[in-house]
Amino acid sequence: MRISIIGTGYVGLVTGACFAEVGHNVVCVDNDTAKINLLRAGSMPLYEPGLEEIVKNNVAAGRLRFAHTVREGVEAADIVFIAVPTPPLPDGSVDLTAIERVAREIAACLTEYKIVVDKSTVPVRTGEKVAETIRRYSKTQVEFDVVSNPEFLREGFAVHDLMHPDRIVIGVSSQRPVPPMKEVYAPFNAPIIVTDINSAELIKHAANSFLALKISYINALSVICEACGANVQQVAMGIGMDRRIGTSFLNAGIGFGGSCFPKDLSAFIAISQQLGYEFGLLREVQKINAQQMDRFVKKITDTLWVLKDKVIGVLGLAFKQNTDDVRCSPAIELCHRLRREGAILRVHDPRAMGKARPLLPDATYLDNMNDVPEGCDALVIATEWEEFKQLDLEHAKRVMAQPIIFDGRNLFDPEEMKRLGFIYRSVGR
Ligand code: UDX
Repeated sequence: MRISIIGTGYVGLVTGACFAEVGHNVVCVDNDTAKINLLRAGSMPLYEPGLEEIVKNNVAAGRLRFAHTVREGVEAADIVFIAVPTPPLPDGSVDLTAIERVAREIAACLTEYKIVVDKSTVPVRTGEKVAETIRRYSKTQVEFDVVSNPEFLREGFAVHDLMHPDRIVIGVSSQRPVPPMKEVYAPFNAPIIVTDINSAELIKHAANSFLALKISYINALSVICEACGANVQQVAMGIGMDRRIGTSFLNAGIGFGGSCFPKDLSAFIAISQQLGYEFGLLREVQKINAQQMDRFVKKITDTLWVLKDKVIGVLGLAFKQNTDDVRCSPAIELCHRLRREGAILRVHDPRAMGKARPLLPDATYLDNMNDVPEGCDALVIATEWEEFKQLDLEHAKRVMAQPIIFDGRNLFDPEEMKRLGFIYRSVGR
């Protein structure tokens, strides 16, 4: 199929690259000239495991190219995907100006039937608005269809999630775009669910809110576990092995972050409110998430008492493992809290130090995680990177001013840490 993707962020670039990988002809469009020039020069504007290789291979094979204008994208494709940002507004609702602008730009260059697919996360009923806008701004009476096709990829696993999706959701208002959309996704061997557009749009917010709810549920349980001496990981395993519940997204910690969950929760609460429903359950999910961070900071201050001029080592800056993304990162929030109390920070992250620097300019950045503990009054684990489990704990104990570890991601075994002589505080254990 001939496909174009408008918007070359995480979603757009990964989607475009994976579509090319399965044999489609793809043009990725972005109005950020610097980004397109970077991609044309063979550099990646973001880190995502496996992405660079796929992009390079498919550019070389002639199936993937980059363009500056929506016109180039529309002319080169039968199906135009919109994957532009939909950032939050101060009241939690969604800023749809980029979607509206792209819809107008597409309208201006429609000369034959096209399928316009919304891949960005948008409030329910945006598809209707996009269709209305294209109709209004198109100079000709040319036919088109608007389709909603939400993405479910996780940062850090985006290529994997795209190549091996659990399901594909296609929201349509007529049957005409269904066969071509099925053709786009045929190589991925995943179940395809065809719905109406409003349902497809709702599925995205409902799925992310449910996952956030699952994390807040286990975080709330971690408080109960601490109060009664139970172990939240054992409880999570015990409830998760009921297949109706499932074991994933039951890791207690310092709360969820990232560019999706916090934003999508706020958006879904705002959307529900506009539709006349006060989604109190989701407000509680947000509240538990905020309290989880407060509790963790209190654990640190309860143990260290005064933080002013204490040296604290922080392992992890990204909002989760396998990414360089620090947007809405609980680890960065934690660092800010510690800085506000006057602590001196020594930090390390395998991928996110570059993006963290402007947000935390006065921390000391260390390339090797084993250099972080030197002289520290405490060490904090803030992101669930697998490699932190390889930290040389005996060396850490020798070089720290005090052997205290606050593990916000439950990476280590409390018994083992006790045996090594650490004062060790984790979450819900
Ligand atoms: C999420 C959804 O998973 C994805 O389907 C959607 O398309 C975009 O939003 P992402 O934001 O990349 O993906 O990250 P995810 O892996 O879902 O983690 C989100 C946050 O939850 C991270 O801060 C992570 O540390 C936290 N988390 C996750 C937990 O605290 N506990 C868990 O058990 C799982």
